[in-house]
Amino acid sequence: MHKQPIIKIENIKKSFKVGKNLIPVLKDINLDVFPDEFSLITGPSGCGKSTLLNTILGLEKPDSGRVLVENKDIYQKKEDQIAKFKSLASFISSQTG
Ligand SMILES: Nc1ncnc2c1ncn2[C@@H]1O[C@H](COP(=O)(O)OP(=O)(O)O)[C@@H](O)[C@H]1O
Ligand SMILES: [Mg+2]
Repeated sequence: MHKQPIIKIENIKKSFKVGKNLIPVLKDINLDVFPDEFSLITGPSGCGKSTLLNTILGLEKPDSGRVLVENKDIYQKKEDQIAKFKSLASFISSQTG
């Protein structure tokens, strides 16, 4: 049996509006992270690493695409569940740097 990814990112896009300009930052990103896997996200400053991580933490909703954690779309959860997820994810993030 194949392992299921614990985090699955499907076709996410995110742009930021800066003044009159819309700056595309995440342009159709796909990523699978499997349990017990050690993953690194690398790239030059400003390439979108923090924006990508924030989408996984539930802090930055992508403009389109899905973020699945344990097979559930984290942005489709109810408000109180999203709040719980954010608080847990931010805690883990703060503990792990
Ligand atoms: N809230 C925001 N509003 C406008 N632009 C942003 C915002 N957050 C990030 N950006 C822009 O998005 C790009 C990617 O930023 P970021 O994800 O922080 O990159 P990295 O973590 O790889 O250095 C940068 O050009 C940054 O200026
Ligand atoms: Mg960063």
